[in-house]
Amino acid sequence: MRLTVAAIALGLVALTSAAYYPASQPVTGVKYADKDFLFKQKFFFEVLRNIHLPLQFQEYLPYTQTFITEESKYVNFSEVVEFFNYYKAGGFLPKGELFSIYNQEHMKQTYFLFTFFYNSADFDTFYKNVVFAREHMNEGMFIQALTMAVFQHPQLKGFVLPAIYEIYPYYFFNTDVIHSVTFRKMYDQKFGFVSNGKYNVVYSNYTAVYPAEYYGEDKLSYFTEDIGLNAYYYYFMMDYPYFIGSDKYNLNKDRRGELYVYMYQQLIARYYLERQANFMGPIEEFDYEFPLKTGYWSKLSYYNGIPFFVRNDYYSISKDFYYQVNLLKDYEARLRQVIDKGYYYMEDGSKIDLRKPESVEYFGNMLFTNPDSIDNDYFGYLEVIARQVYSGGEKFFKFFPSALMHFETSMRDPFFYQLYNRFLTFYYQFKSYLQPYTYEELYFKGVEIKSVVFDKLMTYFEYYDSDVTNVVPLKSTGEKFFDFSVFARQKRINHKPFTYTMDVYSEFAGKGVVRMYMGPKFYDVKQLQYLKKYFVEVDQYMYDFVTGKNTIVRNSRDFYYSVRDRTTYTELYKKIMTAYNGGEKFVLDNSEAHCGFPDRLLLPKGLPSGYEMTFYFIVTPYYAPKVQQFSTYDYTYSCGVGSGSKYIDDLPFGYPFDRDIDFSYFFTKNMYFKDVMIYHSDELKMNSSF
Ligand SMILES: *[C@@H]1O[C@H](CO)[C@@H](O)[C@H](O)[C@H]1NC(C)=O
Ligand SMILES: *[C@@H]1O[C@H](CO)[C@@H](O)[C@H](O)[C@H]1NC(C)=O
Repeated sequence: MRLTVAAIALGLVALTSAAYYPASQPVTGVKYADKDFLFKQKFFFEVLRNIHLPLQFQEYLPYTQTFITEESKYVNFSEVVEFFNYYKAGGFLPKGELFSIYNQEHMKQTYFLFTFFYNSADFDTFYKNVVFAREHMNEGMFIQALTMAVFQHPQLKGFVLPAIYEIYPYYFFNTDVIHSVTFRKMYDQKFGFVSNGKYNVVYSNYTAVYPAEYYGEDKLSYFTEDIGLNAYYYYFMMDYPYFIGSDKYNLNKDRRGELYVYMYQQLIARYYLERQANFMGPIEEFDYEFPLKTGYWSKLSYYNGIPFFVRNDYYSISKDFYYQVNLLKDYEARLRQVIDKGYYYMEDGSKIDLRKPESVEYFGNMLFTNPDSIDNDYFGYLEVIARQVYSGGEKFFKFFPSALMHFETSMRDPFFYQLYNRFLTFYYQFKSYLQPYTYEELYFKGVEIKSVVFDKLMTYFEYYDSDVTNVVPLKSTGEKFFDFSVFARQKRINHKPFTYTMDVYSEFAGKGVVRMYMGPKFYDVKQLQYLKKYFVEVDQYMYDFVTGKNTIVRNSRDFYYSVRDRTTYTELYKKIMTAYNGGEKFVLDNSEAHCGFPDRLLLPKGLPSGYEMTFYFIVTPYYAPKVQQFSTYDYTYSCGVGSGSKYIDDLPFGYPFDRDIDFSYFFTKNMYFKDVMIYHSDELKMNSSF
């Protein structure tokens, strides 16, 4: 997440662990990794290399055979014993088998493996256990559990892992790309070596070149298959895994339930705008009883060549699965009933009032069924079951290879958006029972936005090279890791950086918070009642207002939610090794954070003649959050998951569009609507590594 210098001065905190991060350069916000940190960083990059092959780094080989068994080496030994017992009984999914986090058995095993890592009392124990697991556990499960451990463990937050599309390209690049890369490596002696520069590229095209690939929704594949978008969703799901919770992991401190629903609402809104820009009409509605109109032909295969599930147009759930369909209908009906009644009685008799705005937290957890929720037996597992039946299966314990069964690939299937669009109707229903914000709540006395002026907004396609070396099996002799890298070159959407200037007249001096949204153009103000759910929040920041005129100039590169491109696997590894061997220092920073939305995808694709959209700004008084932002973590390198201090202020997510609007007073002076054109340039830019 990019932060302005002002924010950095505000937010510096004491370091949680001096052993990990030197504390010497706080003023500029720049921190460097020390040798100890770099050893750990190097380790993560090495164990994830060529995940389907045995580990090739000599220094780790002594630890491949056994895990650490001493009780004193674990924080909570009884949790680890569960792992030991399961392992000894041969209960774990073998290496090479297909893995899905939406399979209940796989999920349980992942949890065991994760707690095994998580409970390691020190890094020495941790890394030896990781080496053991790298050699003996299922590859998919290993990546999942290791990533979770790094994201969740208080002592490991801040370490960088290679981008998921470079760790596991199979879930991000179509079969023809993977095939071309490996085939070329076999016949072309020169292919892949670092000294050969731009020679090492294989093209990866979205365009349907084969008639069989063509389904109507493919117009959007540059968006739905974007590696940045899919990685963003994957990382959200890894930061807040649906199967962990309770006080131990503190996820509930981050307004988890509300955040979860908001994340989906924002994704659906963003997708809706991209559809509109392509003249595709609204998101299709569906029902379990009727054939699903939108098919999906995935062009992905698993690493062993098994293709992903193909769902034809007008797919019907088999009659054999009607038990699951009934479950889905029941779970939905229970949710709706509780929302309409407005309260829920817990087993111990206590009453939960669902007419209070803050109960959105209960609601969000209920809908998505995580361990922080109140009654998962009753509200059920909507998401998981729906994903299974539309993947052609219906059993918790079986594996169904489909895009919907993985965080990494879900967003490629148009049904994903239809499904969550449906689930979000419960959220809108919940919100519909809350009173519209009053004039006093919306209004900011003495503050008026006078004007907003934008630069020209311009989107374009460019080529980008992703490092897919991890799919190429290296011969154990002769070739050395990282002497070697190959790239998939893919077209992707981007936009020119832009600036807007906002003039605010204020009679008030002090802190205010600015929110900026982007949404569909509307022709009659009343349409906003329906269209507000398609507004995407693109920026939020605190501003110190002075009395009189305030001119705010803000560049899209500084927007709160967005991050720039990730450095590639090979490049990052080289940087780590250089610093490790005493060369240029390795900077700890969060500008490529896994938790940010790709800056590139900020704007929907424009039109040569302009695609008209509406931006919305609102300045509100500063409502301090319960825990001061950044006060419990160091945001210069951490995403703050579970810290409870991630947010600028205490307003509901999506404010003020989260509730019904009373048009008799809604348009107060501290808000501003601005229609803006987005243009598209057909000129293709090159942004590859060479
Ligand atoms: C260890 O974990 C178990 C299972 O999660 C839990 O019941 C127990 O309270 C934990 N013990 C300690 C000492 O934290
Ligand atoms: C993909 O696009 C590139 C550049 O336009 C082209 O050279 C290449 O032949 C295309 N590949 C396929 C498989 O169509």
